[in-house]
Amino acid sequence: MYVAQPIEWTDRGVVMLDQRRLPGEEISHTYTDYREVARAIREMVIRGAPAIGVAAAMGVALGVLHSSAKSVEELRAEFPQICEVIAKTRPTAVDLFWALERMKARFVELTRQSSDLTKIRQALVAEAQQIHLEKKATDEAIGRYGAEFMPREGQVMTQCNAGALATGGIGTALGVIRVAFEQGKKIHVLVPETRPYLQGARLTAWELHRGGIPLTLITDNMVGHFLKSGKVGAIVTGADRIAANGDTANKIGTYQMAVLARENNVPFYIAAPISTFDLSIPNGDHIPIEERSAAEVTHIQGVRIAPDVPAAHPAFDVTPARYIAAIFTERGVARSPYTQSLRDLASEKAIA
Ligand code: MRU
Repeated sequence: MYVAQPIEWTDRGVVMLDQRRLPGEEISHTYTDYREVARAIREMVIRGAPAIGVAAAMGVALGVLHSSAKSVEELRAEFPQICEVIAKTRPTAVDLFWALERMKARFVELTRQSSDLTKIRQALVAEAQQIHLEKKATDEAIGRYGAEFMPREGQVMTQCNAGALATGGIGTALGVIRVAFEQGKKIHVLVPETRPYLQGARLTAWELHRGGIPLTLITDNMVGHFLKSGKVGAIVTGADRIAANGDTANKIGTYQMAVLARENNVPFYIAAPISTFDLSIPNGDHIPIEERSAAEVTHIQGVRIAPDVPAAHPAFDVTPARYIAAIFTERGVARSPYTQSLRDLASEKAIA
C-alpha cells in the first residue's frame, strides 16, 4: 500500500516533500543548511509532531556536518546555536524538543569520547537517521495496538493529518486505521477538512485515497451531525503533547470533537508515540499553544475569504483526559487513570 515519504536523509541533503503544495503538486526541496530546515518547519513544508522531530534531528545533523568548526571546542561553542534556531520554530509539539534533547545527549557523549570531527559528524548523521528509522517501527507498533479497538466495520473519524506525512512512518492515527483496514476490517473514514490549514482535506484525504482506504471528506461543522448518526464506531486522532495526567494537545477542533463523542457514546482514542508524553507538566494548562498567522484564517491558499478584520488562530487545543477512552502507544495501551498508566509506559513497563 502506498506510504508517503515526507522526509529523507540523502547524500545531497535533507529532502522534504513540500506539504504546502499537496494535493495539487508533489514538489520536494533539498536542504543543506540547518536554518533552511528551521524555516521549513516553521512554514509547514513539513508538519505533524513526529515528522517535526525527525526534521529537527536531521537539521542538527546538517548543522554539525556543514559547520566550519576546526576543533571540538569550536563545534561545542556553535552547537547550542544550531539547536536554538531549530527549537524556536514551533512550540506545541514536544517531539521537536525530545529530538533536540536526544541529539544534544549524543553530541555530549561523542565529544567526551573523541576529538575526531569527522567521526562526530558521521555519528550525528547516523543518530538522526536512527531516529527516523525508530519512528517507522513505533508507528507499526502503535498501529497494531490500536487496530484492536477499531470497529469490524463502519465509520471511523479522525482529525487533521496523523498519517505518514506527519510521522515519516505509516502514521499514528492513520497507522491504526491502515493496520485495521489491512486486517480486513471494513472501515470507512470520515475526514473533517480541519480549518484553517486544511490538513484533513489536503493531506489526510490525499493519503487515504492513495492508500485505497474508503473515505468521505466532511467540513468541520458536520462533526456533531455525523457523531449523532449512530454510525461512527470510533474516533482516533494523533497528539502533539500529552501531559502527565493525560490531557492532550492536538490540532484545533479536537477538543470539541471529543466532547461531542462523549455526548454520543462514541469512544475517542489518541494514537501517539511515547516521545509525545511530557511528564514534566502535571496537566494540559501548561501546554504552550502555538498562535499562527491570522492570514491563515482570513485567506485560503492565498485567496482572501474574509474582510480585513482581526482573526484568531490558535493552532491547537487541549482535550481533558476524562474524554479520552485510551491512548495507543508503541509500548501498549494506556487507560485512565493516566497519571499512573503513562508513567508506567514511559518507564517501559508494558501494560497492554
Ligand atoms: O499543525 P500541524 O499540521 O503540525 O498539526 C498536526 C497535528 O495536530 C497532528 O494531529 C499531530 O501532530 C499528530 S501527527 C502524528
